[in-house]
Amino acid sequence: MMNKHYLPLYLFGLLVLCLTITAVNAEIIDDDTPVPPVGALGGPDRVLDAAELEQWIRGRRVFDRDWQLSEGLGTPDLNADSCRSCHQKPVIGAGGGLDVNVTRFGFDNEGAGPFEDLPGGPVASKLRRPDTPGREDADPMADIFEQRQTPSILGLGLIDTISDAEVLSHEDPNDNNGDGCRGTAHMIDIAGVLEVGKFGWKAQVPKLSDFLRDASTGEVGLTLVDDGRGFGAMSDNDNVADPEFSPDDFADMLFYCAHLGYPQRAGNPDPQVAVGEEIFTAIGCAICHIPEMQGSEGPVPLYSDLLVHDIHPDDFRGVGEAGAPVGFFKTPPLWGISGTPPYLHDGRATTIEDAILMHEDEADLVMRAYFALTDSEREALMLFLFDL
Ligand code: HEC
Ligand code: HEC
Repeated sequence: MMNKHYLPLYLFGLLVLCLTITAVNAEIIDDDTPVPPVGALGGPDRVLDAAELEQWIRGRRVFDRDWQLSEGLGTPDLNADSCRSCHQKPVIGAGGGLDVNVTRFGFDNEGAGPFEDLPGGPVASKLRRPDTPGREDADPMADIFEQRQTPSILGLGLIDTISDAEVLSHEDPNDNNGDGCRGTAHMIDIAGVLEVGKFGWKAQVPKLSDFLRDASTGEVGLTLVDDGRGFGAMSDNDNVADPEFSPDDFADMLFYCAHLGYPQRAGNPDPQVAVGEEIFTAIGCAICHIPEMQGSEGPVPLYSDLLVHDIHPDDFRGVGEAGAPVGFFKTPPLWGISGTPPYLHDGRATTIEDAILMHEDEADLVMRAYFALTDSEREALMLFLFDL
């Protein structure tokens, strides 16, 4: 039993806790929040003129907004009430920890396979509007759940400038060059035309604007104006008039996300960084984590090929889809990697080194070369990765 002399202290502690939780959940941005300079983490990708800067700031507020039930929050399900609630580490617009993972599910016959989608699709929601009658989050048949970790959005506007042809030029589905890696593009049917998926852990979405629509409905539960590309919902069954996301607000949020600069190199002057970079290429990490792809506005230093690969053991259980079967994930970009733990699609790797050690299958030959490195070579590789 609590000693009554401690009760005021206890209540004070509770009050502090409540205030802290409110502070963490409440909107963190207002118009006076400084805009990080170009080149700083979370800042714009270039010097913006006055009108552009205003739009960027408006877009940041939309991204940060805590949506209300009266504005249409929930469809009826949702994972959070704002984009920022997951994309905020180490800065707003970046990634999130394990606590904000989202869940996909399906049926794979207790691992015997094949993976099947269950009615209603593979998306499980954490929350639902309090005014909706109960609905199961996941089909009771589900026997496999895959977690997805929140990736950083910084620099995605630049990835959006990479053409489909540029991605397709790196495909090697039959491993004709014998390096063990068989990258394939995840092709998505958009109104009858196949486009290369570039966004999401399974490269399941072609354009940044498509993902923003998908997230607006899937994560926050908002309806949008139809753009004919098949992402996001146009109507739902709450009493709020559709579209809940006004086209102007959406355009502002898209401008903000498209103009978030990519994470710059840390610039560690230690000559071992360059040695580590050579090792990264020499042992074959750069086969999949291609240092630079061409975008329409210039080179994009992303360290990815945007192709899907299987680097997991044969008994890996997870969620599959056409074009990205169970165990296949997009090579994640490595820019800014030191600031976005944990790693891999579900955050199973706590450190960068853990993530490297979990590469198998297509990465077998490369990992053999990695294990043959001396301790000091491995240290140089880590110095390089921490500089990205
Ligand atoms: C509940 C946490 C959560 C919320 C809320 C959330 N996201 Fe995400 N976001 C994720 C996760 C997890 C992924 C990876 C999903 C996947 O690929 O399966 C993701 C992926 C993305 C991507 C693609 C990233 C990439 O590297 O390809 C974009 C863009 C994005 N989110 C934008 C948004 C926007 C805009 C909002 C608000 C409308 C939002 N997100 C709300 C968790 C969240
Ligand atoms: C066959 C292609 C391939 C090769 C070769 C490869 N990777 Fe990867 N890498 C991937 C894929 C695919 C993932 C994501 C897997 C997942 O999420 O389950 C990944 C994930 C990572 C991650 C975690 C990134 C994040 O944001 O979660 C790091 C770090 C990484 N790789 C570094 C390396 C290094 C260093 C090497 C060389 C030793 C290497 N990779 C070789 C394909 C490859």
